[in-house]
Amino acid sequence: MSGRDLDSTHSQFLLSPPRQRHRSSCPILLLPLTALLAAVAVILLCNPLSNDDTVPVLSPAPSSRGAPAGVSEKSTSGMLGSAPAFPWTNNMLAFQRTAFHFQPEKNWMNDPDGPLFYKGWYHLFYQYNPASSVWGNIAWGHAVSRDLINWEHLSVAMMPDRWYDFNGVWSGSATILPDGRLVMLYTGSTHESVQVQNIAFPADPADPLLLHWVKSDEHNPVISPPEGIQFEDFRDPTTAWHSGEDSGTWLLAIGSKNDSGEHAGMALVYRTRDFVSYEPVAGVLHSVAGTGMWECVDLYPVHTEASFGLDTSAASAPAVRHVLKVSLDDDKHDYYGIGRYYAENNSWVPDDPDLDIGVGFRLDYGKYYAAKSFYDQNKRRRVVWGWSGESDSEQADMLKGWASVQTIPRTVLFDVETGSNLLLWPVEELDTLRFSGKNFTNLPLPAHTVKLLEFAETTQVF
Ligand SMILES: *[C@@H]1O[C@H](CO)[C@@H](O)[C@H](O)[C@H]1NC(C)=O
Ligand SMILES: *[C@@H]1O[C@H](CO)[C@@H](O)[C@H](O)[C@H]1NC(C)=O
Ligand SMILES: *[C@@H]1O[C@H](CO)[C@@H](O)[C@H](O)[C@H]1NC(C)=O
Repeated sequence: MSGRDLDSTHSQFLLSPPRQRHRSSCPILLLPLTALLAAVAVILLCNPLSNDDTVPVLSPAPSSRGAPAGVSEKSTSGMLGSAPAFPWTNNMLAFQRTAFHFQPEKNWMNDPDGPLFYKGWYHLFYQYNPASSVWGNIAWGHAVSRDLINWEHLSVAMMPDRWYDFNGVWSGSATILPDGRLVMLYTGSTHESVQVQNIAFPADPADPLLLHWVKSDEHNPVISPPEGIQFEDFRDPTTAWHSGEDSGTWLLAIGSKNDSGEHAGMALVYRTRDFVSYEPVAGVLHSVAGTGMWECVDLYPVHTEASFGLDTSAASAPAVRHVLKVSLDDDKHDYYGIGRYYAENNSWVPDDPDLDIGVGFRLDYGKYYAAKSFYDQNKRRRVVWGWSGESDSEQADMLKGWASVQTIPRTVLFDVETGSNLLLWPVEELDTLRFSGKNFTNLPLPAHTVKLLEFAETTQVF
């Protein structure tokens, strides 16, 4: 996804009315402060997107660059306003850092990118601003783990240093080829802000940490926006999967939208044999009117009878359904549908049209966006990551020096009992964080009795 997404100007999504922007009707509150500060704070109680540099804020709050600079103010601070009501310092806010959720050591993070298991290590890349705790200068941060719980921070994997990703190394996905080679496909925002797809490879495939990445200057960009697609509506390539007829041919999807008709979000599919040259597949994988730009499309098979995950390339079969997950730029939520995928006519069809993208299930009903799954060949499971941003202001983020966490990775299974939805559960490794358990398994509990259970005193771990 892009920073521009955070400040969507397209808010026609039917289910979620757009946030209203009443710049002229913002009430202004004048708050006399304590004698100590002897100052007057002007707090704009209005949409953060109308944040105005001329508005005085409590020093030492840095001013947000805001939407005019192509950077979002936090999209969720809503009526609470964007100016900090208190001069937070990093020390004061350090307690908000998580104990267990993934976050970089400092600065801004958004989407998870290219997760994979490689030579004994789980890799997580993520949208990262190396210079600041607000969105911008997007590079790929990188961390590795043995268990998806304890992470080591590595150096930035890819910087925006080529004309074809000058405005950002945006989201993308990893594909592991049958011979073990690894291809990373990602969206670059070019020096002219055109969204193109690029490829990168590990500099040393023998390095389990995959520390260094080489962008293919010879071939990039490998896919440019096709005719009829706006330059800024073409991003977030998926992991590639085998086409049904020919395992030497790979397919991948890219999110887009069509505003000449019904503000339809859609996923476009490309075919490749060598990951260097690509041809568009006729038609669209799927499209839903009124849903607007589709970001971070994810298409993967789930087994409808067994409780293990399936490789992204697993063939369609009677006991296999395909999940289509889409992040809707308009309302910043992740939706999915369960259906059948037909490679032969490039189409995904939901089992239940009433549970289609944008009208059916969400992957998570909290603050959660830009999810990306991967098939973990190590434990034969599908694992999904999602980005969770705080709902405080961008200015608070600048004061505390960091923004966003990733959710605990979750295994994804088809719900065999209902037959209609997914089950997400934190990865089993999370249990390694538990200790001093008490076992009440054989406790007699006669009817109409109250029994006090003895636990140790609880502790909050920061
Ligand atoms: C966009 O929608 C219009 C109107 O429905 C249609 O004519 C056009 O072919 C669509 N474009 C794409 C790229 O799908
Ligand atoms: C593709 O084929 C399937 C199965 O025959 C059908 O249900 C679906 O409507 C087709 N999609 C398109 C776009 O023709
Ligand atoms: C709790 O006790 C029961 C019965 O002794 C045993 O089967 C079970 O594995 C124990 N569970 C844990 C978490 O220790």
